[in-house]
Amino acid sequence: MEKYFDCAATTPMTEAALGAFTKAAREFYGNTSSVHDVGTKAHSLLEHSRETLAGLLGVEASGLFFTSGGTESNWLGMEAMMSAGGGNHLILSAAEHSSIRRVVEKKEREGWSVTRVPLTDGGMVDLKSLEEAITAETVVVSVQLVNSDIGTIQPLNEIHSLCKRHNLLLHSDFVQAFGKIDVREAASFVDSFSLSAHKIGGPKGVGALYIRPSLSFEPIFPSVTHESGVRPGTVNTPGVASFIVAADSTLREDGILDLKTTFLKQLREDFEVVGDVRHQSVPIVGLLVKGVPGQWMVLEGSRHGYAFSTGSACQSGMDGTLPTLDAMGMTEEDSEVFIRISFHPSHTKEDVIHLADCLNQVVVDYSGEKVEMAGR
Ligand SMILES: Cc1ncc(COP(=O)(O)O)c(C=O)c1O
Repeated sequence: MEKYFDCAATTPMTEAALGAFTKAAREFYGNTSSVHDVGTKAHSLLEHSRETLAGLLGVEASGLFFTSGGTESNWLGMEAMMSAGGGNHLILSAAEHSSIRRVVEKKEREGWSVTRVPLTDGGMVDLKSLEEAITAETVVVSVQLVNSDIGTIQPLNEIHSLCKRHNLLLHSDFVQAFGKIDVREAASFVDSFSLSAHKIGGPKGVGALYIRPSLSFEPIFPSVTHESGVRPGTVNTPGVASFIVAADSTLREDGILDLKTTFLKQLREDFEVVGDVRHQSVPIVGLLVKGVPGQWMVLEGSRHGYAFSTGSACQSGMDGTLPTLDAMGMTEEDSEVFIRISFHPSHTKEDVIHLADCLNQVVVDYSGEKVEMAGR
């Protein structure tokens, strides 16, 4: 684990989550819709999980639906929001995760008009552009709580005030926020949000969508019975139980903050942090590496036993630019030299110093410079 620094892409399951998964798979294997005892036992575990998650988030359990993860939750959430309003215009930040961008592109093909709002130099949604984009036809605004590439925490409070003033619905992608920052306040005012289990030590292929229960919307799957008609398919009860166990033991940001500070101090001047550090979620840091391609850094890092990335896993490799940097008005050249490091509470001070030394060495080797590395 000590050499894995790509926790924004996915995390290893915690022992407790693994234990919960096996126990639930063995003992609560029934279909939650079956009326016999085996089914009702699984159903009770599912509803207990829903109540527990609702308690952690401070929301009503009846608004929570279990899904296959963040991607599906974003898709279903956005479709629900669009069906709940009366117009045909939507606004999103240009740095949204691909799962939001794809559903929006589909809506655009179906005739919706769309405004993509840029980020400021600091990586925050440009509120002035957002307000200017609002029209009489605007139905929904979608802004992620934490950016997956550079970790900036978006000002959802202000965005919510704007939405309230203009009577708009607000969807937010909480995938990189949940378990890392306190999301309860934002959960209390957004109309829908998405969660994913595998970013916080839970299993892959499990997530949740919240839709404010007072909202009237049209589920996209007709005549569905599971998950109150919002999401079809037999519910993954072991996955859900395991997700809730992982969610119950959230990350310790304080420890990670020390690690991140140590790591950044150890880096050479060739590395530049992207975004406003005062508004960043601690576990993620995006860096520009002067003169060295990000892909090279990742490959060389991997050769030395370190796993990190050139940005959000779902976007890397699609085209030259990273949407987050693009949204900040940065160039294709900047995207080419971008890397993302994401930390885990199990990392130690030694781990992050060695990682920084490794990154420094890769830069030195690339430029042919001969420098004695500290800490090696
Ligand atoms: C911000 C954000 N939203 C959504 C997702 C998709 O989540 P999942 O992998 O559970 O579908 C990710 C995962 O990369 C993400 O970082």
